[in-house]
Amino acid sequence: MKLFEPITIRGMEIRNRVVMAPMGTTFGFRNKRARAFYAERARGGVGAITVALLPVDLFEDQDFVQGLGASLIDAIHEHGVKVGSQIWHGNKYPYSGENAELVAPSPGMPLWEKDVERVWYDGALGQCRELTIAEIEDIIAKFANAAARAKDAGFDFVEVHGCHGHSLAHQFFSPLGNRRRDRYGKDLAGRMRFNIEMAHAIRQAIGEDYPFFWRLSASEGPPGGITLSDAVELSKQLVKAGVDVIDVSFGAGIHDDAARVTKKQRMGTFAHLAEAVRQQIEAPVIAVGRINSYKVAEAILAKGQADMVAIGRQLLCDPFWPRKVREGRAREIVACDSCSECVDLAVAGEPMRCKKNGRLGREWELPAPE
Ligand SMILES: Cc1cc2nc3c(=O)[nH]c(=O)nc-3n(C[C@H](O)[C@H](O)[C@H](O)COP(=O)(O)O)c2cc1C
Repeated sequence: MKLFEPITIRGMEIRNRVVMAPMGTTFGFRNKRARAFYAERARGGVGAITVALLPVDLFEDQDFVQGLGASLIDAIHEHGVKVGSQIWHGNKYPYSGENAELVAPSPGMPLWEKDVERVWYDGALGQCRELTIAEIEDIIAKFANAAARAKDAGFDFVEVHGCHGHSLAHQFFSPLGNRRRDRYGKDLAGRMRFNIEMAHAIRQAIGEDYPFFWRLSASEGPPGGITLSDAVELSKQLVKAGVDVIDVSFGAGIHDDAARVTKKQRMGTFAHLAEAVRQQIEAPVIAVGRINSYKVAEAILAKGQADMVAIGRQLLCDPFWPRKVREGRAREIVACDSCSECVDLAVAGEPMRCKKNGRLGREWELPAPE
């Protein structure tokens, strides 16, 4: 099966085409629970895992960075799985500083406040202040530093979180989030500038030998938002700037992205977006969005819609999905209902649960299955 063919990205061989989609877990990064959670997915047979939502400012804490290898990365490597860090900056500046303020490309409501939901693009003014040019440059430098530190920590690749509305990279790119009139806004070239400058800075910081992924929303949802043709143009520019893989997601908000795709929508529902990007760039792409069936996954690869598939909720529900498929035991897979209770809890800051997998988040304290 194509699904189990290796792929090489800038010298890094991934043993198969199944990537665990980045998922902010609320389990933290450096504790027994997080370690066991990721180790179980690695044991389950994926090729690569993207550890989600690492705020760039966190990488300025030397203790945090030094501890990551022993506390997390080694546990994934033990199973022959590559691991990437998904670096992110939301609407706080500085993210973890004492005097953090809510900021955005243009004034508006912050998305990333727990009690304020998907509103930044509604144009309600007042809560986020506009970032200054000096702050924008500082944030770009922070991304570059975070990527270099992630490399030093032992991650095999870095991915920029540039999707789903709640990242600055998405907000700068979106005509809904970015109403600036200076060089970081105004037209498509201006809206792409933050992302492209960041990609150049990251490539310079990580050197020529390190794999670099970028996750974007190839379509935003609300009218007036990012279009597929904008996203194709951004993908081209990112590849020129040194990005190796475009991870093609969808959506504008934490309640409105690919993680909300329900059972009513067909599996692989966003694969056409990945396909459209792939046709226009000279780099591999990842497709995501309810790719819960191995037959659908295989068809996406066989039709050339994508080079890899990312699987999210299905791996929370059954971490052993890839292994069961490879061993001809697909009938034993515990099927995810795409109910999204996991993401609802994560967004509320509560420990994730899954109706169909009582082990989720308790892998560290329950005996491992065969
Ligand atoms: C609990 C949860 C947390 C998520 N957190 C992130 C995140 O931090 N970064 C990101 O890019 N996507 C995040 N997502 C979206 C997933 O990566 C994926 O795109 C989405 O779940 C659709 O794939 P699926 O249908 O296979 O679950 C999250 C999804 C879930 C379920």
